[in-house]
Amino acid sequence: MPVYGFTLNGTDVTVDAPEDLPLLWALRDKLGVTGPKYGCGIDVCKACTRLLDGEAVRPCSVKVSTAEGREITTIEGLADGDTLHPVQEAWLEQDVPQCGYCQPGQIMAAVDLLKRTSSPTDEDIRAIENVCRCGTYFRIREAIKEGARPM
Ligand code: FES
Ligand code: FES
Repeated sequence: MPVYGFTLNGTDVTVDAPEDLPLLWALRDKLGVTGPKYGCGIDVCKACTRLLDGEAVRPCSVKVSTAEGREITTIEGLADGDTLHPVQEAWLEQDVPQCGYCQPGQIMAAVDLLKRTSSPTDEDIRAIENVCRCGTYFRIREAIKEGARPM
């Protein structure tokens, strides 16, 4: 099988996988990085959201070969050592999660949004399509606004 190399949360890694293996399986099953969650597998629920070269993508719908030579950040790589990312701090402050399953993807989508705008409107936040079956949308909105301040 071909071997693909990329940077994952600041560390260079390689993975031996079929070219068309979804990147989500490479991350979860081959590299043991389980922050990106599996929900639908068809780029609808967005539970698997993580950053590829700084932009939010859904690895369930991206081939592992696409990651070659690129940089991936998952929720595991968001903090700087013991210092949480401002969005993670805001999530804690607002006590956002309920069951928690969608939350890594929600946070990564929020980080992506705040890289594009430092003062997101409610409309900007509503444009995030990540599904939360527990309905934590109100707290997510408040946390994104709070996370935007230090950024
Ligand atoms: S599992 Fe990737 S979008 Fe649903
Ligand atoms: S917190 Fe349960 S699905 Fe979002």
